[in-house]
Amino acid sequence: MAMTDDAARPTAPLTFPPSFLFGTATASTQVEGGDVDSDWMAFAREPGRIKGGDTPRVACDHWNRFRDDAALQKKLGYGAYRMSIEWARVEPRPGVFDTAVLDHYRAMLGALVDAGITPMVTLHHFSLPTWLTHTSGAASRAGLLADALPELLARYSAVVVRALGDLCRLWVTLNEPNVLVAQGYLMGAWPPAKKSPLDAVRAHHNLLAAHVAMYRALHAEAASVTGTLAVGIAHHLRVIVPDASTRAVDRLGATALRSVFNDAFARAVCDGTLYGPLDAFARARGRRAFDVRNAKGTQDFFGVNYYSRDRVRLSLRDADQMFLPRGVEKGAEVSDLGWEVYPDGLGTVLGEWSQRSGVPMYITENGIADASDTQRKSFLVRHLAEVARAIARGVDVRGYFHWSLMDNFEWDSGYEPRFGLVAIDYATQSRTPRPSAELYGAIARARAIDRATWAAYREPPANAKRSPT
Ligand code: FCB
Repeated sequence: MAMTDDAARPTAPLTFPPSFLFGTATASTQVEGGDVDSDWMAFAREPGRIKGGDTPRVACDHWNRFRDDAALQKKLGYGAYRMSIEWARVEPRPGVFDTAVLDHYRAMLGALVDAGITPMVTLHHFSLPTWLTHTSGAASRAGLLADALPELLARYSAVVVRALGDLCRLWVTLNEPNVLVAQGYLMGAWPPAKKSPLDAVRAHHNLLAAHVAMYRALHAEAASVTGTLAVGIAHHLRVIVPDASTRAVDRLGATALRSVFNDAFARAVCDGTLYGPLDAFARARGRRAFDVRNAKGTQDFFGVNYYSRDRVRLSLRDADQMFLPRGVEKGAEVSDLGWEVYPDGLGTVLGEWSQRSGVPMYITENGIADASDTQRKSFLVRHLAEVARAIARGVDVRGYFHWSLMDNFEWDSGYEPRFGLVAIDYATQSRTPRPSAELYGAIARARAIDRATWAAYREPPANAKRSPT
């Protein structure tokens, strides 16, 4: 492949290896529907929490329509699907596991396997059973701060892999622990809606301990199932730069945000070390000592959820954003949610973390809120080109899962953002592939971005949304 330096754009055709997985991703709370006893269902019932008063109660009714959804994926040409399991469904009461639910997940995975689609399963994608967050009892109310969290998540993981491990080889323990902690314990936007740096640090460490326990439980169980499981984390990684690189305080702010929010969890799992100030803070104030060295090497692959770039300022007026408000360059291409579209960042993140982790990479999420589907084709092509370039440079990238297969419940933003390759009409539950869905299928089938596609989509469309100038 002709490629000179970083300033040069890639030249088509851009090809992918024969075993590369082209897939899509969803998460249980966002697509399944059902009156599940989870903290997110409870949160959505509280007035003012979710935009438009939306709730995940029906979502895409994927729980009942999974067969049609698998058939649609096959028809579109997608070869992999990342889905998650709802802990609150599988273990409705502490220590009680619902075999009918596990059978249902078997049917879901079976439908994928029968359609020739490789599954990747996430065990924890943001939501918790209410017996851990709301009701009193053994591990009462503490949620992510519960001392028993690692043990409970490990036990649940072992039960799930025992029941389903023959159908799935790729397992994700946790989705975006850094985002979950920031939204739930610093920004107060997600359950349990706290704003406590101390609790945030404790939740972060407890999730690290939980991941380690889950990793070990999965591998211990794997021996009796298939013996070939690969286990990783879906890390949320952004590109974080100072708003004005000339201002020392902004440079400091960007470094701090990168170290604490972006890198800390991933670094702990790669090297078994914590960012200094976070470590000191945890030691001085944390209740439970967690030996971070145990986390080293507990991932067989490195999952990257990549969306955007932030420009960071240090501003004493923005206490609600931890004094580090994030913004976007004036006139930059943005999504419906105002997130900057910055494909180069995916290449940067893949290169950096492949080196730091030493394990194969998957892009476990990457996508855009784009209701009119004006930018998604170009978004896809440019991000996939970054993946192809990384592979050509020698980075071991095994697959790409686009977020999302279909429109879904976007947490506190409700149903308004449209991330789907497939549009959902929530009134009728009808599924309509957007033009980008067909383009992605064509690239997946060809395992290449051909010259014509590259020429058409290598730049953002002229009518792309831009941030105010
Ligand atoms: C990620 C989440 C995923 C989805 C996308 C848009 O942070 O993992 O569930 O909400 O953002």
